Amino acid sequence: MDTFDSIAKRASVREYKTKPIEKALLEKLVDAGRRAPTARHVEPWEFIVVTAKEMLEKLGQIANSGTFIKGSTACIVIFCRETKYYLEDGCAATENILIAASDLGLGACWVAGDKKPYVEEVAGMLGVPSGFKLISMISLGWPSSEVKQVKNRSLKDVTHWERF
Ligand SMILES: Cc1cc2nc3c(=O)[nH]c(=O)nc-3n(C[C@H](O)[C@H](O)[C@H](O)COP(=O)(O)O)c2cc1C
Repeated sequence: MDTFDSIAKRASVREYKTKPIEKALLEKLVDAGRRAPTARHVEPWEFIVVTAKEMLEKLGQIANSGTFIKGSTACIVIFCRETKYYLEDGCAATENILIAASDLGLGACWVAGDKKPYVEEVAGMLGVPSGFKLISMISLGWPSSEVKQVKNRSLKDVTHWERF
């Protein structure tokens, strides 16, 4: 798919079919994530690909803003080493994965990580060593129904030429 189409088609999808996602596709998503820009080229990210049903259920229980993870067939959890720009780097990787998922026709939703009260519990459950920050959890699956898009502010509304 054309890059612009993948971006334009992207929408948060929170309901999924039970059909699993092939490992090769999950690897493609991580590959898209690791190619994101990274300040000072430090690449602080680690991608934990969770596919086991009981682990997805547990993540959905822990993350109160991502309860739908329990109905997903995979979740890519992104942690970054605590560097100066860990949050920017981790968010860039997250967005790359969302666009790649859209390109593949997969449903995906960004579930918040940084600043959330469940950070420690998620890290403990996934065996993450200290010194790493939870950036996001990307809930994934084949969409169970037609993907609906929310209305966005118009191009004209958000664009300022030369001055605010
Ligand atoms: C930093 C960030 C955190 C988010 N956290 C959550 C979340 O915890 N749970 C959720 O359902 N959606 C979450 N979202 C998805 C937004 O709700 C969604 O992007 C927004 O409503 C716009 O809808 P769209 O993605 O379909 O365009 C998050 C998005 C961002 C960028």
